[in-house]
Amino acid sequence: MEQRKKIFGALDDLMRSPIGDRLRERVFRELSTKEIHDLLQREQKPYKELMAYYQCALMEVETKFRVLNEQFSLAHDRNPIESIKTRVKSLESITEKLNRRNLPFSTQSIEENLTDIAGIRIICSFREDIYFLADCLLEQDDITLIQRKDYIENPKENGYRSLHLIVEVPIFLEHKKKMMKVEVQLRTIAMDFWASLEHKIYYKFEGNAPEYISRELRECSGIVSVLDDKMLSLNEAILKAKAEAEAKAKAEAEAKAKAEAEAKIKDIADKQRIEAENYEETLRIQREEGQYAQHMHTSTANFGAYQVEKQAEVGVAGA
Ligand code: GTP
Ligand code: MG
Repeated sequence: MEQRKKIFGALDDLMRSPIGDRLRERVFRELSTKEIHDLLQREQKPYKELMAYYQCALMEVETKFRVLNEQFSLAHDRNPIESIKTRVKSLESITEKLNRRNLPFSTQSIEENLTDIAGIRIICSFREDIYFLADCLLEQDDITLIQRKDYIENPKENGYRSLHLIVEVPIFLEHKKKMMKVEVQLRTIAMDFWASLEHKIYYKFEGNAPEYISRELRECSGIVSVLDDKMLSLNEAILKAKAEAEAKAKAEAEAKAKAEAEAKIKDIADKQRIEAENYEETLRIQREEGQYAQHMHTSTANFGAYQVEKQAEVGVAGA
């Protein structure tokens, strides 16, 4: 490894020297534009291919999060994900990282040694959404967890907070399945705000920010945590108040419906009672009329009989 580093270093020096310039000139003179183009293409092809695979892995993981977001919003009426950012590490950063770690530059080395070529950042509304989404992702049977770093439970010395997962996800190519590593970072909006400011400061001072700035950043990280706590409890209070208002409105609607139903039943009962009473009355009248008619009939019959009897008597007497 040490020897190889020396050789690469010597070659690097050579290419940067006037000899390197002459060598480059010679190569450019000897080769046609097309040959140079083909040479570069050939050299680049395996890297381009590998980067495309990482891009596909990002698409897979992004879709998984979008599906979870959709399903959660159907169930709970809100989106846990505020935004999603993805990136494939640039070849320049890959080279820099491999060099820094004294690792060879090859597609195999990239795949074996680097876990953050494909990166996806999920920005959530609330801290509990982070753990919910992470658990849901890790439950899926095509996802393998390689590493989990919880910088929310255990923030970094400088105050950095996020949940980091390195996962492996399969991508399905023409005739093969390939497992790809993806770095997933989950943070709240407030944590992201802090991290982007810290990142700017880190670059501005090349990692050597004045002590008072680092101290204030750490303080801000504490404020971010308190803010996230408050936002979470505020959201819980909002949900509780909403549930209570809904329960109250439901109870009121039910009471109103019950009262209306009872009024209707009473109305029907009243009508039935009146009808029954009317019916009774009708019957009574009919009965009375019947009895009267019967009485009249009897009376008439009796009277007729009486008359016949009387006439008979008169006839007998007169005879
Ligand atoms: P790298 O070699 O930088 O990838 O770090 P690592 O292999 O130790 O992984 P770690 O999980 O700690 O960090 C990976 C990524 O998280 C970084 O590339 C950043 O995007 C982010 N990150 C980690 N620490 C910090 C930090 O202190 N500040 C900010 N702004 N981002 C950080
Ligand atoms: Mg990194």
